Amino acid sequence: MLRNDQLDSWDRDSFFHPSTHLAQHARGESPTRVIKTASGVYIEDRDGTKLLDAFAGLYCVNVGYGRPEIADAIAAQAKELAYYHSYVGHGTEASITLSKMILDRAPSTMSKVYFGLGGSDANETNVKLIWYYNNILGRPEKKKIISRWRGYHGSGLVTGSLTGLELFHKKFDLPIEQVIHTEAPYYFRRENLEQTEEQFVAHCVAELEALIDREGADTIAAFIGEPVLGTGGIVPPPRGYWQAIQAVLKRHDILLVADEVVTGFGRLGTMFGSDHYGIAPDIITIAKGLTSAYAPLSGSIIGDKVWRVLEQGTDENGPIGHGWTYSAHPIGAAAGVANLRLIDDLNLVKNAGDVGAYLVKTMSEALGDHPHVGDIRGEGMLCAVEFVKNKDDCQFFDSADKIGPQIAATLLDQSRVIARAMPQGDILGFAPPFCLSRDEADIVVQATLRAVTSVLG
Ligand SMILES: Cc1ncc(COP(=O)(O)O)c(C=O)c1O
Repeated sequence: MLRNDQLDSWDRDSFFHPSTHLAQHARGESPTRVIKTASGVYIEDRDGTKLLDAFAGLYCVNVGYGRPEIADAIAAQAKELAYYHSYVGHGTEASITLSKMILDRAPSTMSKVYFGLGGSDANETNVKLIWYYNNILGRPEKKKIISRWRGYHGSGLVTGSLTGLELFHKKFDLPIEQVIHTEAPYYFRRENLEQTEEQFVAHCVAELEALIDREGADTIAAFIGEPVLGTGGIVPPPRGYWQAIQAVLKRHDILLVADEVVTGFGRLGTMFGSDHYGIAPDIITIAKGLTSAYAPLSGSIIGDKVWRVLEQGTDENGPIGHGWTYSAHPIGAAAGVANLRLIDDLNLVKNAGDVGAYLVKTMSEALGDHPHVGDIRGEGMLCAVEFVKNKDDCQFFDSADKIGPQIAATLLDQSRVIARAMPQGDILGFAPPFCLSRDEADIVVQATLRAVTSVLG
């Protein structure tokens, strides 16, 4: 195809990019990168520049790019039946098969899958269903949702409120009053550096208890959390965190939503993060890895306890007043079926665990002694490097210095490796496709070392 030289100007004049400095982009001060094709862990732009995508898009292209098995399944579905809705008991072979495949992989207490399009709308569904649940149970006051600071759950009105990151609240009049936040399980950033991991978990639990006390347990419906904090900094929880938190929730009859949009379908080296940490959720949010982003699809996996009340609700009130035109879209469902089969056939969950552990280990060996590297952490195919001004007293850089973004930009310019400068703090995040090889992990680590040395000496 001939190159369209007008794309740059069309982009600046027409395209509202998410999570972008709008004014700078419109003025032409930030680059437009037009991505054209991709294969494995590499993407290629229209100039033919190949980039190693060590963040799998937005930690979503889990099986890697260019898989014909999924593309063919999408094409076949589009030819046979591009669309039919799933209201009032309608379905397609793909959507019904996919719901069964998901339940076969999910914790055994899960009962049904509701399909949406993205992680944000799935969490929106969850909150609505939780409110409905408590209304049916005759507890109209029990509605607040507890989320964690640094949690990420989407950017809608309710989900942007659940998200515990400043940028997503500022100037949007968020969070809404039904959403309240508690301590992030972020041991590296603990206020009291003397605390052991165990003491820090006790502190998180005490903070949660105090919040529940202040608000009243009879006003709190649910707690939502990612098994590993994602966009908030890629932070695995301290040992024993989930057990201790679940005990509190149980005592106060508070539902637990495990937001597995990032961790679902293998990223931690287990099918779900809930399996990994012994979490017993009432609802699980899924998206990204469900189709490896080959088509938009998300889901809310509803546990038995909630499902029984939803059934009771419809017996009392008629059909559930919730649904999207594109719920269980056949093309997304076909992509999901092909994607989950591919994950099994290629043993990709195991590879995510094995190569992910290798990535974290080699990253630690290469960068652990650097005076400005404060923490290197990870779980499965997730890894983060956090930078500090001073290691001894864990002093952070001024955010205006933009150390994280500078290092990510240098990594891209020097070595054509994509990592993500996480939005709050100087944290470089890695979440490669599960098919990453050890050789590719080595390339990522060496490139990161070079970029860090260039920016910080
Ligand atoms: C844990 C988690 N939940 C929800 C979302 C929102 O998903 P989406 O961007 O598809 O709306 C994300 C997106 O990154 C996420 O990481």
